[in-house]
Amino acid sequence: MTSYADFYRQSIDQPDAFWADQAGLIEWHKPFDRVCNYDNPPFVNWYEGGQTNLCHNAVDRHLLDRAGQPALIAVSSETGTEKIYTFADLHGEVQRMAASLKALGVEKGDRVLIYMPMIAEAAFAMLACARIGAVHCVVFGGFASGSLASRIEDAAPKVIVSSDGGSRGGKALPYKPLLDEAIRLSSHKPGAVLLADRGLTPMDLVAGRDHLWSELRTTHVDAQVPCEWLDSTAISYTIYTSGTTGKPKGVQRDTAGYAVALAASMKHIFDGRAGETFFSTSDIGWVVGHSYIVYGPLIAGMATIMYEGLPTQGMDKKPNGGIWWELVEKYKVTVMFSAPTAVRVLKKQDPALLTKYDLSSLRALFLAGEPLDEPTARWISEGLRVPIIDNYWQTESGWPILTIANGVEPKPSKFGSPGIPMYGYNVKLLHEATGEELTAPGEKGVVVIEGPTPPGFMQTIWQDDARFVNTYWKSIPGKLVYSTFDWGIRDADGYFFILGRTDDVINVAGHRLGTREIEESISGHGQVAEVAVVGVADGLKGQVAMAFVVLKDSSVMGDSAACGKLEAEIMKRVDGDLGAVARPARVRFVTALPKTRSGKLLRRVIQAVCEGRDAGDLTSMDDPGALQQIRDRMETV
Ligand code: PRX
Repeated sequence: MTSYADFYRQSIDQPDAFWADQAGLIEWHKPFDRVCNYDNPPFVNWYEGGQTNLCHNAVDRHLLDRAGQPALIAVSSETGTEKIYTFADLHGEVQRMAASLKALGVEKGDRVLIYMPMIAEAAFAMLACARIGAVHCVVFGGFASGSLASRIEDAAPKVIVSSDGGSRGGKALPYKPLLDEAIRLSSHKPGAVLLADRGLTPMDLVAGRDHLWSELRTTHVDAQVPCEWLDSTAISYTIYTSGTTGKPKGVQRDTAGYAVALAASMKHIFDGRAGETFFSTSDIGWVVGHSYIVYGPLIAGMATIMYEGLPTQGMDKKPNGGIWWELVEKYKVTVMFSAPTAVRVLKKQDPALLTKYDLSSLRALFLAGEPLDEPTARWISEGLRVPIIDNYWQTESGWPILTIANGVEPKPSKFGSPGIPMYGYNVKLLHEATGEELTAPGEKGVVVIEGPTPPGFMQTIWQDDARFVNTYWKSIPGKLVYSTFDWGIRDADGYFFILGRTDDVINVAGHRLGTREIEESISGHGQVAEVAVVGVADGLKGQVAMAFVVLKDSSVMGDSAACGKLEAEIMKRVDGDLGAVARPARVRFVTALPKTRSGKLLRRVIQAVCEGRDAGDLTSMDDPGALQQIRDRMETV
């Protein structure tokens, strides 16, 4: 067996040879002429001259050997339904969806926005876009009209694929009214809307614009839509993520590099094999859903479970904290992927649930999206008795940056560390202000990646190369390096530890949110003069948002009933604009916010005070009284 150290070294020292080898893991229509073009840093083109297709590699390719094997297992504990689609079934459904999209006018390069719950049709739509060379843009179903509208505006989709609604904890959540409102708010109007009607909530159809999937599917039931052969660098999708400003960034990915990166990660990191079952508990609205619910497992020839529902609800809709383990047993899941938050929820359930089911098929559980705390890691590790593998990455990277490459050499994990740099990632720690490289163990710096970034990594920000370069590649003085905006340290064995974000991004139950977006929503309330939103540590969700609001009329602060009413109004506003995921846990009213003398909001100081930590050097602070108010308000939380 190759040692991981040698494998890694080759990827950094001879990237062309390394990635040319990995390219053999997918099928090509036309071979590439050049492995890596890094002539115009930081932009990188992988596999120039080649042609391939993500849908071909995820679906058609497997028809020869495994047409009758499960490909997509759609399970909903919300509706109590389970349906297995074989690769042949999936091939049929994807072609029907592709034909329907084409009939609605979608052509190669057009954007299709997908706003859907966790149902099979969402995967059909993604794969259908990939098949015909349309660019999909999936928006998390938990987002509300305001978030959705800004994404419609930016992506300018020709068609939107959606549904009547989702369901959570047995409660139907209408999507269609939110979509209609978002389309009304956006200056870009889609040509058509394709709707999967689940019969969950009533829908009003807009004549001439809205179409039902059930009808188009019937029209195109025998459709044969061949895969469009796409240039390696053709855009496969965009996915929006939060950053420092209120405007979400459309992370853009290519076709061939992404396919190779996922195929390689399935082999070297996840060690998932064709014919087995992969279960990721994420959502298709997030990057984990793109890479490890839809594309990764299917490219590897695995069945993938798409699960709609809470981790604590059984198929009979009664409480059941063992539902995921029931699915592992039933579908002989070999590799599972989840988030620390979900494990913390399960930790509150009866521990006997971990031994009730036959979990002998399971080889490893991967956890990502937020720091994995030691008690949670120990609890699940002792309960499942399989390796628990923390992995650190981002929407931008598309696949793990730091973890353990189990398929190459199963090195030991260390509690609290997501692991070591993955092949292709030249990860460094730099001093935030001087840009100096930090090499001594235990030194804290910004985690950066030196270019060329590996296949699968974002190409740019959709339609904004300048923002891509300025945001990600120019934040460290004097160096053109990609900043992750995470703090980290490395120990003497080369294991990294992630210490939180350097920017204003917070992580609530594994959901990445920008505090600026929440602030913008709250500022829209007529009585709000100023607001600061910070992320505060939370035992279950990792972090929660806390909002501190200065009112235009501070006399209201004396009236607790009025304050309670305002808090509720502000929360409702955030729900309506962004979605309940972004709703602050608390809104507290103050007369001033802590700022520097030049007027810059001291968010990190507010956060430190909220978490009961030392607020550090406060000499630049303008008004110490403002900080005292935050302290006082926290005591009443
Ligand atoms: O701060 C890091 C944190 O989540 C951010 C990326 O979130 P997102 O774009 O939603 O992508 C999630 C993909 C798994 C990172 O910048 N993060 C992610 N994984 C970890 C983590 N923090 C600590 N440990 C992790 N394993």
